[in-house]
Amino acid sequence: MTDRSDIVEVVSSYVRLTKRSGANYFGLCPFHSEKTPSFSVSPDRQSYHCFGCGKGGDVIGFIMEIENLSFPEAVEFLAKRANMKLPEEVNDRESKKRTRMLALNRDAARWFYEQLHTPQAQIARAYMEKRRIGPATAKNFGLGYAPNNWRDLMDAMKAKGYTDQELFEAGLIRRRERSSYDTFRNRLMFPVIDVRGNVIGFSGRILDDGEPKYMNSPDTLVFDKGRNLFALNLAKKSKSGYIILSEGNIDVVSLHQAGFDSAVASLGTSLTGEQARLISRYTNEVIIAYDGDGAGIKASQRAIGILEKLDLKVRVLRMSGAKDPDELIRTKGPEAFRALLEASENQVDYRLRSIAAKYVLDSPEQKYEFLKEAYGVVARLPDQAQRDLYASRLAEQVGVKEDAVRGDIEKTRSQLIRRARTSETRASARAPDRPAAAQGRKLYFDDPRAAAAEQGLIRLLFLDAGCARGVTLPESVEFSSPELRHIYEALCERIERHAPVSLSLLRETLSSEEVDLLVRLDQEPVNLSNGGQAMADYISIIHDRYAERQAASAQKRASDDLMAMRDKYRATKAYK
Ligand code: UTP
Ligand code: MN
Repeated sequence: MTDRSDIVEVVSSYVRLTKRSGANYFGLCPFHSEKTPSFSVSPDRQSYHCFGCGKGGDVIGFIMEIENLSFPEAVEFLAKRANMKLPEEVNDRESKKRTRMLALNRDAARWFYEQLHTPQAQIARAYMEKRRIGPATAKNFGLGYAPNNWRDLMDAMKAKGYTDQELFEAGLIRRRERSSYDTFRNRLMFPVIDVRGNVIGFSGRILDDGEPKYMNSPDTLVFDKGRNLFALNLAKKSKSGYIILSEGNIDVVSLHQAGFDSAVASLGTSLTGEQARLISRYTNEVIIAYDGDGAGIKASQRAIGILEKLDLKVRVLRMSGAKDPDELIRTKGPEAFRALLEASENQVDYRLRSIAAKYVLDSPEQKYEFLKEAYGVVARLPDQAQRDLYASRLAEQVGVKEDAVRGDIEKTRSQLIRRARTSETRASARAPDRPAAAQGRKLYFDDPRAAAAEQGLIRLLFLDAGCARGVTLPESVEFSSPELRHIYEALCERIERHAPVSLSLLRETLSSEEVDLLVRLDQEPVNLSNGGQAMADYISIIHDRYAERQAASAQKRASDDLMAMRDKYRATKAYK
């Protein structure tokens, strides 16, 4: 495939190349700004290299970089480019439009950033000082200033060659009657950057008490508020092992500045399932640090539910002494936040405390009502030791015998299980031909240890096909589970021919049960930062288990043969 995409030809559609000397072509590097060409392309080696910024690689790498695509996407991009057919031209037009919009956003972000240092931005600089946002932080987040005029950004971007229509579609300008004007005026600008480093939109805070406090880019071709998180591009690099989820942009900025580099915020909406899924790709633990007011508590409770569905470990920080993380850090210092972070509760503690807050535990009736509600939480814990622990805490809290509480909890638990079973039977009686997996049936595997590794490997490959590069993957016959083997084969087949991997494409080859299984696998959290090691571990477990099963079945075959021989011997003897 790649040999059909000549690197000189591909690069030429982005960079003006000239042949100066020798075998190589030269041009102005598209990845950094320069006035003399230090970007070279070698047709012999089919590679590029920039002597200025050090970037280099093959044609796929070039496309990944310049179009901001993943490895399989870049391969598909090149394949399309190589044999353009009519229907794909539409796609191509779409992807060109996306690329243009991303470039426009980047240029706009750069422009806002530059404005922060002009005399007219004195008001913004004063505001940042008031909010204690330092220059290093401003740079880290690429904060900027939208001047208090009607067409400054518009003029600057048009001078760079962008059209009115492009600015409008990117949400940077608005239209009224026949005239257009800048969307963001006299605001502190927060660029929203996705995990690949693209500027996808903006959030602008007003500099005084005016309304609306924040103005956000509308949803565009490249921006979907419900699918992105502010600062995830920075937080994903954190070594902390967890993500701090807060409410406001300013909270996130303050947190990072104070050293809590894993803080993110949803973009002015309450947390969505998509955002939770996005988080689960980078961590398996989330600490919710919402505002301490009623709205914040309610939002925390909602967020717990969403995050728990993805098997994320959730802790809730109990905001006290300030209304939000920003105020806490400003008035009490980073250590105060660190202390709250360390004291943050798991969601069971958090829920029990919220329940307790509703009752005054001084009458038997109140105690009874409280316990009844608390049992609902504790009885659902899968772990016996944990249930016992909470039983003893609850007993102490209300002053009753521990045994009694423990007994009640176990009774509640059996009731819950019984009720779940009957509703399951009822559901399957009602819809006999619904696929079992859709009802959340758990698959049972003959070799659970092998199956766990097989699932792990599939999950990694599905999440990031790029991690298969340079790795010898197991043969599919080595898989113990037929369902997992089939999914794995479908995945490998696509990865081998560098085709993109996505659920909708795999649907073509997989049964609906297998798709369900894959969806479930994909929703389990994985930490990509040590994906390489995990992948090696999975592969070696798969090899080992396969070898063991082979040995076991060889032994069984040998003994079967012996039995057969014995039977034959007996039979001949009997007939003689
Ligand atoms: P907050 O009002 O808590 O803002 O809204 P904040 O970022 O903490 O700012 P300060 O500290 O009060 O100055 C939380 C988030 O809700 C969204 C923004 O993303 C904001 O960061 N929001 C808020 C809007 O989108 N529009 C608004 O008008 C207000
Ligand atoms: Mn706030």
